[in-house]
Amino acid sequence: MSETKNLPPAHVAIIMDGNGRWAKAHHLPRSAGHREGAKAVRRVIEATPSLGIKYVTLYAFSTENWTRPQEEIDTLMDLLDKTIDEYQKSADKQNLRLWVSGAREPLPAHLLNKIDELVADTAKNTGLTVNLALNYGARQEILHAVNACLAEGKKSITQQDISAHLYQPNLPDPELLIRTSGEERLSNFLLWQAAYSEFYFTPVLWPDFDEKELKKAVLAYQHRARRFGGI
Ligand code: IPE
Ligand code: IPE
Ligand code: MG
Repeated sequence: MSETKNLPPAHVAIIMDGNGRWAKAHHLPRSAGHREGAKAVRRVIEATPSLGIKYVTLYAFSTENWTRPQEEIDTLMDLLDKTIDEYQKSADKQNLRLWVSGAREPLPAHLLNKIDELVADTAKNTGLTVNLALNYGARQEILHAVNACLAEGKKSITQQDISAHLYQPNLPDPELLIRTSGEERLSNFLLWQAAYSEFYFTPVLWPDFDEKELKKAVLAYQHRARRFGGI
């Protein structure tokens, strides 16, 4: 392959899609697909720092995912709960910092408390920042930013104002946005931040995603010519 044009991305955002189809292909219930998906999350978090990536945003649950059957929502919340418990034990060893993007309502209070605790406990860590997009919707995020600006009494709003009032104002925009499972859409993810992101779509289903696939995506990104409207 030709010489790389870009340094590795500092921030990779991932739409982790295809758990249900993975389960179907293995003749298993959808919940089994979500469990395998949680394993892929751990694999990717482990592999990420060695690739030079400093921030990873993981789309775990969208504001539209509340339309799924209650049983599936419960499975997802339960898995998240367990994953948070595990990282409460291992985050320091991995030097991980947890951030969250999304609306709090209507997430269960016990889950929010656990997440708040892990965010506070890992705030001092200096390794990879894992930004969990949970109950996340990009349109809601932009509205939240606009409303926060209005609440400050601003009469006109700049791009910098919006960026400064996003859920995570200190998170750089993602250079690379990955979506697994062959779907090629944003599904209300990072509409503001992805203005100049490079998109990488792969047919690999999220439970099958691993370090090798992540490396492929990063390498593809490194070969892209990013022009930002120039020539
Ligand atoms: C991604 O897998 C997980 C979430 C959206 C929470 P899906 O559950 O969307 O899997 P498919 O798209 O049905 O295969
Ligand atoms: C996007 O996947 C949301 C997450 C991965 C959390 P969906 O499976 O919900 O998206 P659509 O419905 O295919 O657009
Ligand atoms: Mg899906």
